[in-house]
Amino acid sequence: MDKYMIDGGRRLFGSVRMQSAKNAVLPLFAASILTEQPVTIRDTPAISDALCMAQILRELGADVRFHGSDVTIDSANAYSHKISSALTKELRSSVFMLGSLLTRFHRARIAYPGGCDIGLRPIDLHLNALKRLGVDISERDGYILCRCDKLRGAEILLDFPSVGATENILLAAIKAEGKTVLQGAAKEPEIVDLQNFLNAMGGKVSGAGTDVIEIEGVSALKGVAYKPAKDRIEAGTFLIAAAICGGEIEVCGVKPENIGSLLHKLRENGCKIHTKNDKIRLESNGRLKCNRRIETLPFPGFPTDLQAQVTALNCTCEGGALVVENLFETRFKYVPELQKMGADIEVKGRNAFVRGVPRLHGASVVAGDLRGGAALVLAALGAEGVSEVLDLSHIDRGYSDLQEKLKSLGAEIKRVRVS
Ligand code: UD1
Repeated sequence: MDKYMIDGGRRLFGSVRMQSAKNAVLPLFAASILTEQPVTIRDTPAISDALCMAQILRELGADVRFHGSDVTIDSANAYSHKISSALTKELRSSVFMLGSLLTRFHRARIAYPGGCDIGLRPIDLHLNALKRLGVDISERDGYILCRCDKLRGAEILLDFPSVGATENILLAAIKAEGKTVLQGAAKEPEIVDLQNFLNAMGGKVSGAGTDVIEIEGVSALKGVAYKPAKDRIEAGTFLIAAAICGGEIEVCGVKPENIGSLLHKLRENGCKIHTKNDKIRLESNGRLKCNRRIETLPFPGFPTDLQAQVTALNCTCEGGALVVENLFETRFKYVPELQKMGADIEVKGRNAFVRGVPRLHGASVVAGDLRGGAALVLAALGAEGVSEVLDLSHIDRGYSDLQEKLKSLGAEIKRVRVS
């Protein structure tokens, strides 16, 4: 298990290009088995969640090859609709396989999916929607068993705009008989990316990015080579790093409107932000002011995947901040680690009260989940003295070359193997 050694206090300067979005790429891996023709996903980030999706596809009998950062998936010989419990539990995105396995084989068997330990993360919305499309669902020995004679288009209303459930419905309805109308859909940019990918394969999906998505079932889908959108959460993480450390950086590849809620908060902190096309430039000088209130919400609200990083930022701003986590029940588990660095934070249920202190100090901390881990790295970059961030396995799930990119901006960060 590797760790980061970080000598804090360096200002950050320079320009950095974003990876393809983790949350765009993972559903594309699932979508690749909707056709028997080869599918290429370009610019796939070197993150362990992508490798894990590749393993799942191999387990089904697909041929998955990496050529640099391009991945080609040829599922002509895929034969299985069963994913082992070990792989399903590795990552949350394994749940997308339900929709695509049902389209491909009219059957699917998966265990309850894993992923970051940030809350209950039920999949009732996914399963209820699949039932509406004509799927019989039962449970045996810890596995979810789905089968249908055929998938039938339906009217579906989601009680909550779940990102994963919306994507699963697209995957299950794409070749269903007739039309599916999904109301209450999630509006995240990664869903637009999945729509574009499916349409490039010959699908008929419209409305992604709004809360009503229509899917006209098609009889066949073809292979495609596709370049996913860039990672707005990675972009947000770097912008927050520069806000904490001070300096001036530019992140490239992400449309500013896709992280508009963060840019609004960073301006409130006192950062100067300029945007042009897909470039965002941030300048941070002197001590920033706390955000009075940040509340996570479905897109276009403030993303839960940037909640931990923005809490780390507020730790050293002037004043106090209230951070409200509405999406996941236990997404403040990184707080005790920030407290080891001198942060003044009190957590009560879904609320975190942050009182800004002038500076954090270096400490030995453990990255217990992906975004919480990123928040610890950011806090360490701004802290006085040396920190070690232990257990990089979660950070590796979503960030490729994090230390190299930070180093290129002037950070003192080293990845060290712990035997
Ligand atoms: C996706 C993202 C994740 C992000 C999250 C919210 C991927 C691979 N992951 O996760 O990074 O943090 O969106 O933006 O894209 N819920 C239910 N029942 C369900 C499904 C969800 O109650 O069947 C609840 C969840 O417990 C949670 C909320 O809905 O409270 C949001 O979850 P959802 O949007 O589904 O998140 P994910 O798709 O898991």
